[in-house]
Amino acid sequence: MMKYICLIFCFFALGYMSVEAQAKTALINGTSFTDNEGKVINAHGGGFLKVGNYYYWIGENRKQGVFVSCYRSKDLMNWEFRGDLLTRQSHPELDSANIERPKVIYNLKTKQFVMWMHYEYGRDYSYARAAIATSSDIEKPFTFVKSFRPFGNMSRDCTLYKDQDGSAYFFSSARENYDMMLYKLTDDYTDVKKQIATLWPGGHREAPALVKRGKYYFLMTSGCTGWAPNQAMYAFSKSISGPWSELKNIANSTAFDSQSTFILPLVGNKTTSYLYVGDRWDGKQYFKSGYIFLPLTFENDSTMTLNWRDKISIDVKTGKAK
Ligand code: DGJ
Repeated sequence: MMKYICLIFCFFALGYMSVEAQAKTALINGTSFTDNEGKVINAHGGGFLKVGNYYYWIGENRKQGVFVSCYRSKDLMNWEFRGDLLTRQSHPELDSANIERPKVIYNLKTKQFVMWMHYEYGRDYSYARAAIATSSDIEKPFTFVKSFRPFGNMSRDCTLYKDQDGSAYFFSSARENYDMMLYKLTDDYTDVKKQIATLWPGGHREAPALVKRGKYYFLMTSGCTGWAPNQAMYAFSKSISGPWSELKNIANSTAFDSQSTFILPLVGNKTTSYLYVGDRWDGKQYFKSGYIFLPLTFENDSTMTLNWRDKISIDVKTGKAK
């Protein structure tokens, strides 16, 4: 009898160890990351937010009938799929839609998670609209609110930013991507309140990603070359509404074969790291698109650099990423 009990114990102990052994201690940059079930993570053009003990990663899926999926992780390396937040069935307006670059922030007053995204109808990019969806639960399906052109402007690649005072902002590429528009959102975050600035008119930038470090806001963008990578640039400003600096090159001429989607501040008990998250697009085989997580470094208050690393290990406790 004892022999059998020992055997059963060993069987479960080994099973547990092998699951433990599979936990990732690093991410291999440029590959399509996998979740804790070994499935490819579909969260392209995505964004991140922390809720409780979890980091959430919400991005484009594009599996048949799915637009936006949700993953969560405690350590930013081991991800668990939590569900699809927007699908073709969510709303009649999503029937033949295409959704890109979804970003989510939380509104403390309305207790709603608010998603902004790029909305297209049909196959080309001529609709050029923003769209909004909301949910009281980050892991549950969102309710589609509307698609529209902010103050009549085209709106393609975009990002959302919630500032320390609770004000929220929407950056989006307008006028055939020639201008980067900046809007302040209404208090409930479900509409634009004010058009604040046209950044680098004629600059032809997309893929905006914003972060604040110390006294400065940093905005990273790419050029516009479809799915092909190009030179990433950044600018800085003491105020979100500007004046913003000139655009400066960052990383190499292809942003290490990636395009910016988010900058994630990782606040630990020893340091704060700023993680650049980029998509390594495969425009032909979309689901083979990979991801890149790299720590941004700062030479002084307003100089930001990005260097390549084959892989990255993240310690959410200390805030160190190497
Ligand atoms: C680059 C954009 O950043 C992507 O989101 C996507 O719209 C592709 N262009 C399509 O070519």
